[in-house]
Amino acid sequence: MNFVNEDVVTLNRISITNFLQEIGPDEVKEEIISGLTAKKKHISSKYFYNKTGSELFEQITALEEYYPTRTELSILKRIAPGLMNAYKGFDIIELGSGDSSKISVLFYAASGDYPEQIHYLPLDISQTAILSSAEELVQTFPNINIDGYAVDFTSQFELVGRDRPALICFFGGTIGNFEWDASLELLQNISRQMKRGDILLLGTDLVKSEPLLHAAYNDARGITAAFNRNILNTVNEMIQSDFREDDFDHLAFFNEEKFRMEMHLVARRELELTSPFLSRPLVFQKGEAIHTENSHKYSAKHIREMAAASGLDLIHTHTDNRGWFALSEFQLA
Ligand code: SAH
Ligand code: AVI
Repeated sequence: MNFVNEDVVTLNRISITNFLQEIGPDEVKEEIISGLTAKKKHISSKYFYNKTGSELFEQITALEEYYPTRTELSILKRIAPGLMNAYKGFDIIELGSGDSSKISVLFYAASGDYPEQIHYLPLDISQTAILSSAEELVQTFPNINIDGYAVDFTSQFELVGRDRPALICFFGGTIGNFEWDASLELLQNISRQMKRGDILLLGTDLVKSEPLLHAAYNDARGITAAFNRNILNTVNEMIQSDFREDDFDHLAFFNEEKFRMEMHLVARRELELTSPFLSRPLVFQKGEAIHTENSHKYSAKHIREMAAASGLDLIHTHTDNRGWFALSEFQLA
Protein backbone atom coordinates (compact mmCIF):
# COMPACT_ATOMS: atom_id res chain seq x y z
CA MET A 1 0.00 0.00 0.00
CA ASN A 2 2.35 2.59 -1.27
CA PHE A 3 0.37 5.83 -1.35
CA VAL A 4 3.46 8.00 -1.20
CA ASN A 5 6.19 7.27 -3.73
CA GLU A 6 5.72 7.30 -7.44
CA ASP A 7 7.45 4.16 -8.57
CA VAL A 8 7.92 2.29 -11.77
CA VAL A 9 9.74 -0.94 -11.02
CA THR A 10 11.31 -2.49 -14.11
CA LEU A 11 12.89 -5.93 -14.07
CA ASN A 12 13.41 -8.53 -16.74
CA ARG A 13 9.94 -9.01 -18.41
CA ILE A 14 8.26 -7.15 -15.52
CA SER A 15 7.17 -3.56 -15.11
CA ILE A 16 5.06 -2.36 -12.21
CA THR A 17 3.54 1.11 -12.17
CA ASN A 18 2.27 2.59 -8.94
CA PHE A 19 -0.71 4.90 -9.44
CA LEU A 20 -1.68 4.89 -5.75
CA GLN A 21 0.32 8.05 -5.17
CA GLU A 22 -2.30 9.83 -7.33
CA ILE A 23 -4.77 9.09 -4.54
CA GLY A 24 -2.21 10.16 -1.97
CA PRO A 25 -2.02 9.85 1.81
CA ASP A 26 -4.40 12.75 2.58
CA GLU A 27 -7.35 11.15 0.84
CA VAL A 28 -6.60 7.85 2.60
CA LYS A 29 -6.47 9.58 6.02
CA GLU A 30 -9.75 11.31 5.28
CA GLU A 31 -11.45 8.04 4.29
CA ILE A 32 -10.22 6.22 7.39
CA ILE A 33 -11.10 9.03 9.78
CA SER A 34 -14.55 9.55 8.32
CA GLY A 35 -15.24 5.81 8.76
CA LEU A 36 -14.01 5.76 12.35
CA THR A 37 -15.93 8.86 13.35
CA ALA A 38 -19.19 7.75 11.71
CA LYS A 39 -22.14 6.77 13.91
CA LYS A 40 -21.52 3.13 13.01
CA LYS A 41 -17.75 2.84 12.90
CA HIS A 42 -16.33 1.16 9.79
CA ILE A 43 -13.10 0.71 7.81
CA SER A 44 -12.94 -0.29 4.15
CA SER A 45 -11.82 -3.90 3.72
CA LYS A 46 -9.23 -2.80 1.15
CA TYR A 47 -7.08 -1.75 4.14
CA PHE A 48 -6.64 -5.38 5.18
CA TYR A 49 -3.96 -5.86 2.56
CA ASN A 50 -0.73 -4.42 3.92
CA LYS A 51 2.22 -6.86 3.76
CA THR A 52 1.12 -8.81 6.85
CA GLY A 53 -2.52 -8.79 5.72
CA SER A 54 -1.66 -10.21 2.29
CA GLU A 55 0.39 -12.95 3.99
CA LEU A 56 -2.42 -13.74 6.44
CA PHE A 57 -4.91 -13.92 3.58
CA GLU A 58 -2.63 -16.45 1.85
CA GLN A 59 -2.70 -18.52 5.06
CA ILE A 60 -6.50 -18.27 5.14
CA THR A 61 -6.71 -19.68 1.61
CA ALA A 62 -4.98 -22.87 2.83
CA LEU A 63 -7.28 -23.40 5.85
CA GLU A 64 -9.45 -26.49 5.99
CA GLU A 65 -12.49 -24.34 6.86
CA TYR A 66 -11.96 -21.76 4.10
CA TYR A 67 -13.59 -23.57 1.15
CA PRO A 68 -13.75 -20.69 -1.44
CA THR A 69 -10.14 -20.80 -2.70
CA ARG A 70 -10.00 -24.58 -3.06
CA THR A 71 -13.42 -24.68 -4.70
CA GLU A 72 -12.74 -21.88 -7.18
CA LEU A 73 -9.40 -23.48 -8.06
CA SER A 74 -11.10 -26.81 -8.80
CA ILE A 75 -13.47 -25.08 -11.25
CA LEU A 76 -10.64 -23.10 -12.79
CA LYS A 77 -8.50 -26.21 -13.34
CA ARG A 78 -11.40 -27.83 -15.15
CA ILE A 79 -12.14 -24.89 -17.46
CA ALA A 80 -8.64 -23.43 -17.95
CA PRO A 81 -7.69 -25.39 -21.13
CA GLY A 82 -10.99 -24.38 -22.79
CA LEU A 83 -10.58 -20.73 -21.78
CA MET A 84 -6.99 -20.48 -23.00
CA ASN A 85 -8.03 -22.07 -26.27
CA ALA A 86 -11.10 -19.86 -26.77
CA TYR A 87 -9.27 -16.66 -25.77
CA LYS A 88 -5.88 -17.36 -27.35
CA GLY A 89 -3.70 -14.27 -27.67
CA PHE A 90 -5.87 -12.17 -25.33
CA ASP A 91 -4.21 -9.87 -22.82
CA ILE A 92 -4.95 -11.24 -19.35
CA ILE A 93 -5.96 -8.58 -16.82
CA GLU A 94 -6.54 -9.58 -13.20
CA LEU A 95 -8.21 -7.42 -10.56
CA GLY A 96 -7.07 -8.04 -6.98
CA SER A 97 -4.39 -10.44 -8.20
CA GLY A 98 -2.90 -11.08 -4.71
CA ASP A 99 -0.35 -13.89 -4.93
CA SER A 100 -1.41 -14.66 -8.56
CA SER A 101 -1.76 -18.34 -7.71
CA LYS A 102 -5.14 -18.65 -9.44
CA ILE A 103 -4.08 -17.03 -12.70
CA SER A 104 -1.12 -19.40 -12.86
CA VAL A 105 -3.66 -22.21 -13.44
CA LEU A 106 -4.49 -20.50 -16.75
CA PHE A 107 -0.80 -20.15 -17.58
CA TYR A 108 -0.12 -23.83 -16.85
CA ALA A 109 -3.01 -24.70 -19.16
CA ALA A 110 -1.35 -22.58 -21.84
CA SER A 111 2.15 -24.00 -21.44
CA GLY A 112 3.59 -26.77 -23.65
CA ASP A 113 2.79 -26.09 -27.29
CA TYR A 114 1.06 -22.76 -26.66
CA PRO A 115 2.62 -20.52 -29.30
CA GLU A 116 1.43 -17.14 -28.02
CA GLN A 117 3.36 -14.75 -25.85
CA ILE A 118 1.28 -14.14 -22.72
CA HIS A 119 0.76 -10.55 -21.61
CA TYR A 120 -0.40 -10.47 -18.00
CA LEU A 121 -1.60 -7.29 -16.27
CA PRO A 122 -2.12 -7.82 -12.52
CA LEU A 123 -3.87 -5.01 -10.59
CA ASP A 124 -3.69 -4.84 -6.83
CA ILE A 125 -3.60 -2.31 -4.03
CA SER A 126 -0.61 -4.25 -2.66
CA GLN A 127 2.47 -3.41 -4.70
CA THR A 128 4.58 -5.94 -2.78
CA ALA A 129 2.11 -8.73 -3.65
CA ILE A 130 2.32 -7.85 -7.35
CA LEU A 131 6.11 -7.74 -7.31
CA SER A 132 6.74 -10.99 -5.48
CA SER A 133 4.18 -12.91 -7.55
CA ALA A 134 5.48 -11.42 -10.82
CA GLU A 135 9.03 -12.52 -9.97
CA GLU A 136 7.79 -16.08 -9.44
CA LEU A 137 5.70 -16.11 -12.61
CA VAL A 138 8.55 -15.06 -14.93
CA GLN A 139 10.70 -17.82 -13.42
CA THR A 140 8.03 -20.42 -14.11
CA PHE A 141 6.72 -19.27 -17.49
CA PRO A 142 9.24 -18.36 -20.21
CA ASN A 143 6.58 -16.91 -22.52
CA ILE A 144 5.14 -14.29 -20.18
CA ASN A 145 5.50 -10.50 -19.97
CA ILE A 146 4.02 -8.72 -16.98
CA ASP A 147 2.80 -5.14 -16.68
CA GLY A 148 1.51 -4.78 -13.13
CA TYR A 149 -0.38 -1.85 -11.65
CA ALA A 150 -0.57 -0.82 -8.00
CA VAL A 151 -4.00 0.81 -8.11
CA ASP A 152 -7.31 1.04 -6.33
CA PHE A 153 -9.32 -0.75 -8.98
CA THR A 154 -12.55 0.93 -7.86
CA SER A 155 -11.35 4.30 -9.13
CA GLN A 156 -8.26 3.64 -11.26
CA PHE A 157 -9.11 0.74 -13.57
CA GLU A 158 -9.13 3.00 -16.61
CA LEU A 159 -5.41 3.79 -16.12
CA VAL A 160 -4.49 0.32 -17.30
CA GLY A 161 -3.39 0.21 -20.92
CA ARG A 162 -3.56 -2.88 -23.14
CA ASP A 163 -3.17 -3.65 -26.84
CA ARG A 164 -5.21 -6.76 -27.55
CA PRO A 165 -8.63 -8.16 -26.66
CA ALA A 166 -8.69 -8.83 -22.94
CA LEU A 167 -9.73 -11.62 -20.64
CA ILE A 168 -10.47 -9.73 -17.42
CA CYS A 169 -10.32 -12.02 -14.38
CA PHE A 170 -11.75 -11.07 -11.02
CA PHE A 171 -11.36 -14.09 -8.77
CA GLY A 172 -11.83 -14.95 -5.13
CA GLY A 173 -15.31 -13.61 -4.67
CA THR A 174 -13.70 -10.20 -4.01
CA ILE A 175 -16.70 -8.57 -5.75
CA GLY A 176 -18.64 -9.79 -2.69
CA ASN A 177 -16.58 -7.52 -0.45
CA PHE A 178 -18.52 -4.57 -1.91
CA GLU A 179 -22.00 -3.41 -0.94
CA TRP A 180 -24.53 -4.37 -3.66
CA ASP A 181 -24.66 -0.82 -5.14
CA ALA A 182 -20.88 -0.42 -5.03
CA SER A 183 -20.43 -3.82 -6.70
CA LEU A 184 -22.72 -2.70 -9.54
CA GLU A 185 -20.80 0.56 -9.84
CA LEU A 186 -17.53 -1.39 -10.09
CA LEU A 187 -18.94 -3.79 -12.69
CA GLN A 188 -20.41 -0.87 -14.66
CA ASN A 189 -16.99 0.77 -14.64
CA ILE A 190 -15.35 -2.44 -15.82
CA SER A 191 -17.98 -2.86 -18.53
CA ARG A 192 -17.41 0.75 -19.71
CA GLN A 193 -13.72 -0.06 -20.18
CA MET A 194 -14.46 -3.32 -22.03
CA LYS A 195 -14.26 -3.48 -25.80
CA ARG A 196 -16.37 -5.77 -27.96
CA GLY A 197 -14.83 -9.24 -27.80
CA ASP A 198 -13.41 -8.76 -24.27
CA ILE A 199 -14.48 -11.26 -21.63
CA LEU A 200 -15.00 -10.78 -17.90
CA LEU A 201 -14.47 -13.92 -15.81
CA LEU A 202 -15.99 -13.26 -12.38
CA GLY A 203 -15.75 -15.46 -9.27
CA THR A 204 -18.68 -15.34 -6.84
CA ASP A 205 -19.16 -17.29 -3.64
CA LEU A 206 -22.63 -18.86 -3.54
CA VAL A 207 -25.22 -18.96 -0.76
CA LYS A 208 -24.85 -22.08 1.38
CA SER A 209 -25.64 -23.37 4.84
CA GLU A 210 -24.84 -21.08 7.74
CA PRO A 211 -22.54 -23.49 9.65
CA LEU A 212 -20.21 -23.82 6.63
CA LEU A 213 -20.07 -20.06 6.24
CA HIS A 214 -19.59 -19.50 9.94
CA ALA A 215 -16.66 -21.94 10.12
CA ALA A 216 -14.97 -20.37 7.07
CA TYR A 217 -14.74 -17.01 8.86
CA ASN A 218 -14.14 -18.36 12.38
CA ASP A 219 -11.34 -20.86 11.82
CA ALA A 220 -10.04 -22.88 14.74
CA ARG A 221 -6.46 -21.58 14.42
CA GLY A 222 -7.58 -17.95 14.65
CA ILE A 223 -5.93 -16.87 11.37
CA THR A 224 -9.06 -15.02 10.23
CA ALA A 225 -9.20 -13.28 13.62
CA ALA A 226 -5.56 -12.20 13.16
CA PHE A 227 -6.35 -11.02 9.61
CA ASN A 228 -9.29 -9.01 10.94
CA ARG A 229 -7.31 -7.42 13.80
CA ASN A 230 -4.36 -6.62 11.54
CA ILE A 231 -6.44 -3.93 9.79
CA LEU A 232 -5.76 -1.83 12.91
CA ASN A 233 -2.07 -1.82 12.00
CA THR A 234 -2.85 -0.28 8.60
CA VAL A 235 -4.98 2.32 10.38
CA ASN A 236 -2.13 3.07 12.82
CA GLU A 237 0.27 3.39 9.90
CA MET A 238 -2.02 5.70 7.94
CA ILE A 239 -3.26 8.02 10.71
CA GLN A 240 -0.55 7.45 13.35
CA SER A 241 -3.12 6.24 15.85
CA ASP A 242 -2.60 3.97 18.85
CA PHE A 243 -4.99 1.05 18.28
CA ARG A 244 -3.90 -2.20 19.99
CA GLU A 245 -4.97 -5.49 18.47
CA ASP A 246 -5.43 -6.96 21.98
CA ASP A 247 -8.20 -4.48 22.74
CA PHE A 248 -10.54 -6.01 20.14
CA ASP A 249 -12.37 -9.31 19.65
CA HIS A 250 -12.97 -10.84 16.22
CA LEU A 251 -16.66 -11.21 15.37
CA ALA A 252 -17.89 -12.87 12.15
CA PHE A 253 -21.51 -13.91 11.47
CA PHE A 254 -23.94 -14.50 8.61
CA ASN A 255 -26.39 -11.67 8.04
CA GLU A 256 -29.32 -13.59 6.53
CA GLU A 257 -31.23 -10.54 5.39
CA LYS A 258 -28.30 -9.22 3.40
CA PHE A 259 -26.91 -12.57 2.22
CA ARG A 260 -23.47 -11.80 3.61
CA MET A 261 -20.85 -12.73 6.13
CA GLU A 262 -19.87 -9.70 8.17
CA MET A 263 -16.66 -9.16 10.09
CA HIS A 264 -16.39 -6.73 12.98
CA LEU A 265 -13.85 -5.83 15.64
CA VAL A 266 -15.47 -5.45 19.05
CA ALA A 267 -13.89 -3.32 21.80
CA ARG A 268 -13.13 -5.46 24.87
CA ARG A 269 -13.31 -2.47 27.18
CA GLU A 270 -13.94 1.26 27.09
CA LEU A 271 -11.21 2.89 24.99
CA GLU A 272 -9.90 6.32 24.03
CA LEU A 273 -7.72 6.35 20.92
CA THR A 274 -5.67 9.26 19.68
CA SER A 275 -4.20 10.42 16.39
CA PRO A 276 -2.59 13.72 15.40
CA PHE A 277 -5.21 13.86 12.66
CA LEU A 278 -8.15 13.69 15.08
CA SER A 279 -9.31 16.86 16.82
CA ARG A 280 -10.44 14.84 19.87
CA PRO A 281 -9.92 11.28 21.14
CA LEU A 282 -11.91 8.52 19.50
CA VAL A 283 -14.08 6.93 22.18
CA PHE A 284 -15.25 3.30 22.17
CA GLN A 285 -17.76 1.93 24.64
CA LYS A 286 -17.14 -1.65 25.79
CA GLY A 287 -18.78 -3.89 23.13
CA GLU A 288 -18.80 -1.19 20.45
CA ALA A 289 -17.75 -2.51 17.04
CA ILE A 290 -15.89 -1.44 13.92
CA HIS A 291 -17.40 -3.04 10.81
CA THR A 292 -14.41 -4.23 8.75
CA GLU A 293 -15.79 -6.47 6.00
CA ASN A 294 -18.83 -7.74 4.14
CA SER A 295 -18.57 -10.88 2.07
CA HIS A 296 -21.71 -11.34 0.00
CA LYS A 297 -22.91 -14.77 -1.03
CA TYR A 298 -24.82 -14.97 -4.30
CA SER A 299 -27.59 -16.96 -5.98
CA ALA A 300 -27.88 -17.53 -9.76
CA LYS A 301 -30.52 -14.77 -9.75
CA HIS A 302 -28.09 -12.27 -8.14
CA ILE A 303 -25.50 -13.08 -10.84
CA ARG A 304 -28.03 -12.50 -13.64
CA GLU A 305 -29.14 -9.22 -11.99
CA MET A 306 -25.54 -8.01 -11.68
CA ALA A 307 -24.98 -8.66 -15.40
CA ALA A 308 -28.19 -6.93 -16.44
CA ALA A 309 -27.42 -3.86 -14.33
CA SER A 310 -23.89 -3.57 -15.74
CA GLY A 311 -24.50 -3.78 -19.47
CA LEU A 312 -23.14 -7.33 -19.60
CA ASP A 313 -24.45 -10.56 -21.07
CA LEU A 314 -23.89 -13.72 -19.07
CA ILE A 315 -22.37 -16.27 -21.45
CA HIS A 316 -21.83 -19.16 -19.06
CA THR A 317 -21.65 -19.96 -15.36
CA HIS A 318 -19.29 -22.75 -14.28
CA THR A 319 -19.77 -24.25 -10.80
CA ASP A 320 -18.39 -27.10 -8.71
CA ASN A 321 -20.41 -30.26 -8.06
CA ARG A 322 -21.58 -29.00 -4.63
CA GLY A 323 -22.68 -25.66 -6.07
CA TRP A 324 -20.55 -23.72 -3.59
CA PHE A 325 -18.80 -21.29 -5.91
CA ALA A 326 -19.33 -19.91 -9.43
CA LEU A 327 -17.09 -18.61 -12.19
CA SER A 328 -19.14 -16.69 -14.73
CA GLU A 329 -18.13 -15.47 -18.18
CA PHE A 330 -19.62 -12.18 -19.38
CA GLN A 331 -19.33 -10.11 -22.55
CA LEU A 332 -20.67 -6.69 -23.49
CA ALA A 333 -24.42 -6.77 -24.08
N1 SAH B 1 -7.58 -12.91 -6.22
C1 SAH B 1 -6.89 -13.53 -5.10
C2 SAH B 1 -6.77 -12.57 -3.90
C3 SAH B 1 -8.10 -12.23 -3.25
S1 SAH B 1 -7.83 -11.24 -1.79
C4 SAH B 1 -7.61 -14.77 -4.71
O1 SAH B 1 -8.68 -15.04 -5.24
O2 SAH B 1 -7.10 -15.51 -3.85
C5 SAH B 1 -8.35 -9.67 -2.41
C6 SAH B 1 -7.24 -9.00 -3.20
O3 SAH B 1 -7.76 -7.81 -3.75
C7 SAH B 1 -6.04 -8.62 -2.33
O4 SAH B 1 -4.85 -8.99 -2.97
C8 SAH B 1 -6.19 -7.11 -2.17
O5 SAH B 1 -4.95 -6.47 -2.00
C9 SAH B 1 -6.91 -6.71 -3.44
N2 SAH B 1 -7.77 -5.55 -3.29
C10 SAH B 1 -8.80 -5.39 -2.41
N3 SAH B 1 -9.41 -4.20 -2.61
C11 SAH B 1 -8.76 -3.61 -3.65
C12 SAH B 1 -8.93 -2.38 -4.33
N4 SAH B 1 -9.90 -1.53 -3.99
N5 SAH B 1 -8.09 -2.09 -5.35
C13 SAH B 1 -7.08 -2.96 -5.69
N6 SAH B 1 -6.87 -4.14 -5.08
C14 SAH B 1 -7.70 -4.46 -4.08
C1 AVI C 1 -10.90 -11.53 -0.50
N1 AVI C 1 -12.23 -11.89 0.02
C2 AVI C 1 -13.07 -12.42 -1.06
C3 AVI C 1 -12.20 -12.75 1.20
C4 AVI C 1 -13.65 -13.13 1.63
O1 AVI C 1 -13.87 -14.30 1.88
O2 AVI C 1 -14.51 -12.25 1.65
C5 AVI C 1 -11.49 -12.06 2.36
C6 AVI C 1 -11.62 -12.82 3.63
N2 AVI C 1 -12.16 -12.34 4.73
C7 AVI C 1 -12.12 -13.27 5.66
N3 AVI C 1 -11.59 -14.35 5.14
C8 AVI C 1 -11.25 -14.09 3.88
